[in-house]
Formats: sequence, structure tokens, C-alpha cells
Amino acid sequence: MGEVAAVILAAGLGKRMRSKYPKVLHPVGGRPMLQHVLGAAEKAGVDEILVVLGHGRDIILDEFEHIPYVVQEQQLGTGHALYQCRDALKSHVEHVLVLCGDVPLIKPETLKELMDHHIESGSYATILTAELPNPKGYGRIIRDDTGNVKGIVEHRDASPEELEIKEVNSGTYVFKRKELFEALDRIDTQNAQGEYYLTDVIGILFNEGKTVSAVMTEDPTEIMGINDRIQLAEAERIMRRRKNEELMLYGVTILDSETTRIDSGVKIAPDTIIYPFTIIEGNTEIGEDCRIGPFTTIVDCVIGKDTMIKNSVILESRIGSHCKVGPFAHIRPGTVLEDYVKVGDFVEIKKSKIGEGSKVPHLSYVGDAEVEEKVNIGAGTITCNYDGEKKWKTFIDEGAFIGSNTSLVAPVRIGKRAFVAAGSTITRDVPGEALAIARKKQENIEGWVRKRKKKDDD
Ligand code: UD1
Ligand code: CA
Repeated sequence: MGEVAAVILAAGLGKRMRSKYPKVLHPVGGRPMLQHVLGAAEKAGVDEILVVLGHGRDIILDEFEHIPYVVQEQQLGTGHALYQCRDALKSHVEHVLVLCGDVPLIKPETLKELMDHHIESGSYATILTAELPNPKGYGRIIRDDTGNVKGIVEHRDASPEELEIKEVNSGTYVFKRKELFEALDRIDTQNAQGEYYLTDVIGILFNEGKTVSAVMTEDPTEIMGINDRIQLAEAERIMRRRKNEELMLYGVTILDSETTRIDSGVKIAPDTIIYPFTIIEGNTEIGEDCRIGPFTTIVDCVIGKDTMIKNSVILESRIGSHCKVGPFAHIRPGTVLEDYVKVGDFVEIKKSKIGEGSKVPHLSYVGDAEVEEKVNIGAGTITCNYDGEKKWKTFIDEGAFIGSNTSLVAPVRIGKRAFVAAGSTITRDVPGEALAIARKKQENIEGWVRKRKKKDDD
């Protein structure tokens, strides 16, 4: 078998998206559509990948710095787009797998099957097709009396009888390179859209007596093309269900798949339970036996095992094993919770490290702090980390006890096993094992209430 190159068509404007961003950058399952297609081509095992860019290519190249690409200056149609690759493909390439950048649900297994079929059947073109109950907008597969594929007719060019055909073109094909470019040389723009249609190559090859074959997908959802935001939402739904099902088969319990959105890149270990209304994004990894949610958002985090997170937002942080977080905690980027940490209700933690077994149970703000093991931070404690110009650090050493409603004015250090009295405003370091009280001493005035009453009565 000669070498196979994948070409991804991604130069189109995507007018129907009504967006200032190129269509292939719109995310599905948390990643740009183009990334899904690139990933599928890579996993299918092609020898080379080439992307055709045009509209919005600068923005695309900002996100995909290292992709090999050719430019289609004017978007004159899919045939014209593919034609731009004729000199850029390496000389060893004998077959070309064509993919559309707006078909993000395509699976690598399907591409492999398509390529195998193409090689084994010795076809000049092999089309991936699907049968759709509502084929509106797609090119229809035209077969002759014996069932051979003889052409593709675009929806807008189809006759009423052709519109009845349910078998559609997925926009994914494999071609023999030489004959592909020969045929592309011959296509014209005599059609409803006045474009160079790649699909016309099929008719040309057929008329020359060259074998054209088709492989039909079992799962028609994977060939779905995204042209507008309604289809984008539909693809999102399919992708979400796919990811959730993959995780469930792997041993993760998802209580309500409909309200759980987990990005394709997320990894979760078996026996973890995901409660409803939970969003897990980016490159998050979650260990086994965790309970996550309900109403929780987690972005780019690593979470250990047997950790519980309820009604919370956790961003770009590392959470250890056996931790309890929430309800209603906000853990902001750069935070590390070691094992057995408790972060309770209405607590915000930013860019801080909380040592093993330490607790921040209620109503606190901890920012730019290094907290060692077995520290207890009382309700309402605030690290005053910002002086209006600069951020400063707070250090709380092992076993220290911070009384409720304490303000720790950074930079400041609370020594090992030190004790800070409730209601203190701490502005100086506290030595290890010391007691710090920084509040006005309480005064009790005996009989004050009776005396006031008497005064009022007089
Ligand atoms: C195309 C097919 C149609 C198929 C459908 C599957 C043609 C003529 N029609 O229609 O048979 O059922 O895909 O989704 O091929 N592109 C370029 N340059 C261009 C035009 C398009 O790179 O000049 C790219 C687009 O960015 C897109 C892909 O090619 O990724 C498909 O183009 P699009 O305009 O969406 O084609 P469809 O009308 O969907
Ligand atoms: Ca399309």
C-alpha cells in the first residue's frame, strides 16, 4: 500500500454560523472542530496531514501553530480547495483521504475502515456515506441500476426524485492521487452555487470506467456536518453523550447524562460518581471513588481519589485525595490542596497551598498563602494579601490555630502550633507556640442597663 495523505478542507467562510470566527474554530466538546478532525486523521494512521486554510487563517494559525497547510486565497468551492494541495503533497503519497473541517464527530475507526476498503477494492474513489432520515442540505449518492455509485448531486442541484434519496455524501473520501488531480483539472462551475464541486470528481471517474465505491456508516451521527449553530448544539449533544457513555462503560457513574457535560479530554477513574449539573472541562483528571457535584464546575484540575466536591467552582488547581470541598467553595487557579484537606462553605482560595489534614471550613478568603499541615483556620478568617499595589504572602506553619474572624495582614507568618485569638488583626509575625491577641480587651460595665433605664425615666 502506498502512502496516504489526509487533506482537511477548512478554508470556507461558514456564513451560516453568523460569526466573526472561522467555523472550524467553534468548539464542540470543549475543543475546536478542527482539532477533532485532525485527531481523527492522526489516530487513523495517515502518513501526512495537510489542512487547506483560507478564511480567517490567521486566527486559526494562532491556535494551531504547527499544522502543515496550504492556502486557498478565494473560496471557490470544495474542488478548488482540494486542488490547492496538488503540489504540496509529498511525492510518495499515492492516496488522498479528504476530510471536512466541519465534520467533527467523525471516528478514527471509520476512517481506517474507509481506507482499508479503498485499498482492498482497488477503487479510484471511495466515499463515506450514511443514510439520514432527513438528508436536507447534503449531497445525494446516485447509484446505477446495478447499485454502483455513479455520482453525487448537491441538494441545491437535485431533481425532486433525487431529493428523495436518503443516502448522503459525508464529505469524507479516499482517492487515488493521480486520477483525483486529473479529474479536478476538469471540473467546472456549471451548478446552482457557481462553485468548483469536489463531488463532480465522482461522476468523472465513473464515466471513465474507473471503480468508485462507497462505505456506509452504521452510526449516521458521526458524519454530521456543522453549518449553523443549531447543528453545533446538536453535535455538542451527541459528543456529550458519547463522552459520558465512554466514561460509564469505563466504570464511572453519571447520574444524569443530560445535565452533565464533560470535555473530550477529561479523564475519570472508575467508581467515581458524577452528580447532575456538573461541567468538567479542559485537561481535568479525576481519581477513583470521588463524588463530584451536583452543580459543580471543574476546569483543568487534577483531583486525587475519594475526594468529595459539592456545589463548587474549581479552576486550574490540584486537589489531593480524601479531601472535602464545598458546598459553595471557589478554588481559583494555582491552588494545591494536599490530602485530607477540608475546604467548606463559602470559602475562596486563590493561588495557595493547603497542607495535609488542614481545614478551612467556613466563610474565609485565603489568597497567596502557604499553609502547612494540620492547621485550622477559623470561620471568617481573611488573608489581607493586597495593599493596593502589591500582593503579599501569608505563611501559616504546621498545627497553628487561627481563631474565627481573624485578619492576617500579609506579609506575615504564624509560627508552628501558634494560637491566634478570635477577632484578631495580625500585622506582625507570631512566634511558634505563642498566643497572639490583637484586639481591644473586653470591658464589662456592671449595672449599665439598669443605670440607663433610670436615666431615661428621670
Ligand atoms: C459538502 C459536499 C456535500 C456533502 C457535505 C457534507 C461539496 C460540493 N458538497 O457540502 O456533498 O454532503 O459537504 O458535510 O463538496 N471549503 C473550503 N473551500 C471552499 C469551500 C469549502 O475549504 O471553497 C471547506 C469548508 O470550510 C468545509 C468543507 O470544505 O469545511 C465543506 O464545505 P461546505 O461549504 O460546508 O460544503 P457543504 O455545502 O456542507
Ligand atoms: Ca458543510
